[in-house]
Amino acid sequence: MAVSSQDFFVIKAKENGVNVIGLTRGTDTRFHHSEKLDKGEVMIAQFTEHTSAVKVRGKAVIQTSHGIIDTED
Ligand code: TRP
Repeated sequence: MAVSSQDFFVIKAKENGVNVIGLTRGTDTRFHHSEKLDKGEVMIAQFTEHTSAVKVRGKAVIQTSHGIIDTED
């Protein structure tokens, strides 16, 4: 699938230095991208042919089609 038709998810940083880490799809699960967000910055992203999982490190609000998740302190 060249262009992803997946829903977007939104991550809003509640502090400086929040990391949004993309993990690869397939048998080899590894970090392939790390994006640093400062307080108030928003990242809008999708799961793609390259990205099957996302790890969020730091205080943030994450909005997905499954609901809104607020990371703990
Ligand atoms: N090049 C990555 C991809 O197409 C970009 C990306 C999409 C990404 N979604 C992400 C990076 C989520 C980090 C987190 O898969």
